[in-house]
Amino acid sequence: MKSSKPVLFIFLIAVIGLYGCYQSSKTTQKMILTPKKIVIAHRGASGYLPEHTLPAKAMAYAMQPDYLEQDLVLSKDNIPIVIHDIHLETVTDVARQFPERKRTDGRYYVIDFNYEELKQLNVTERFNPKTGKAVFKNRFPLWKSHFTLHSLQDEIEMIQGLNKSTGKNIGIYPEIKEPGFHRKEGKDISKIVLKILSEYGYTTKEDNCILQCFDAQELKRIRQELQSQLFLVQLIEYKEEETHLKEFAAYADGIGPYFKQLIKKVDSDGTIVFTSFVNDCHQLGLVVHAYTFRADQLGGMPTFEALLDAGFNKANLDGVFTDFPDKAVSFLRRQESK
Ligand code: G3P
Ligand code: CA
Repeated sequence: MKSSKPVLFIFLIAVIGLYGCYQSSKTTQKMILTPKKIVIAHRGASGYLPEHTLPAKAMAYAMQPDYLEQDLVLSKDNIPIVIHDIHLETVTDVARQFPERKRTDGRYYVIDFNYEELKQLNVTERFNPKTGKAVFKNRFPLWKSHFTLHSLQDEIEMIQGLNKSTGKNIGIYPEIKEPGFHRKEGKDISKIVLKILSEYGYTTKEDNCILQCFDAQELKRIRQELQSQLFLVQLIEYKEEETHLKEFAAYADGIGPYFKQLIKKVDSDGTIVFTSFVNDCHQLGLVVHAYTFRADQLGGMPTFEALLDAGFNKANLDGVFTDFPDKAVSFLRRQESK
């Protein structure tokens, strides 16, 4: 009778081999994808204090998100200012202080002012300059206290200082705003920002800095021409852009979509059905950080908890941009402790 030992041996080798492949595919996936779900403080703790002010960033830091976001626009003297718009009149009193400096389109541009002038402006909660009314009526009151604009360097120094004094390691998540507009004004915002990031120690994917941009050509240029080794996130806002995932995967590490664009339909019982977008990204090794989760703008969801659950669990996002980092951090902590 033939011994069954060789067959058993081959079977065992096959099982060990398959297990090894499984483990290694898990390891590979872990190396490519963010190991845990993350919270990005969108413009700081902007649900509580005027967006992109240092107090809003300090408050956000204390809430312990994974990253603080910085939208960046250049001043006339090439200082990256932390501000969402290329215009000033939606969050400052520029129209009162410098009425003669508006362009023919009636708008005041960050790029027309030098840093010292920008520092003189009073910053307030986002408002509609036509009506003077706040965009989010239950947030920090308009024109109260005293807030100012600041540079990228100021914010990095505060975050790195807090990392030292608290022993934590919270990252930065800068966004290059409107590179095409800057180019038309004769400025290369990406080059300037990359140089500053490098001076502060942010050069590789391990340096706790994620660089984002809506302009795909520019983000590709950042990787290929400017040779950045940072973790790059391609922001998108239109359905059509979803068809370019493979091109994005050639230079980016993640995608930042508008959360609503991931929704395929909402059933009559309120169940949200998501598209395959997040899964498609994961298949390509891309993480997905969606924007913007707001407790005072629920988009039809019954509660903020339900919105976070939809994002983190149903849609399987790797991270969310939120104006309320405390709520998202506590949501994840509660979920992890279950
Ligand atoms: O950058 C991601 C998120 O901030 C969405 O864009 O318009 O708020 O800068 P925005
Ligand atoms: Ca942004």
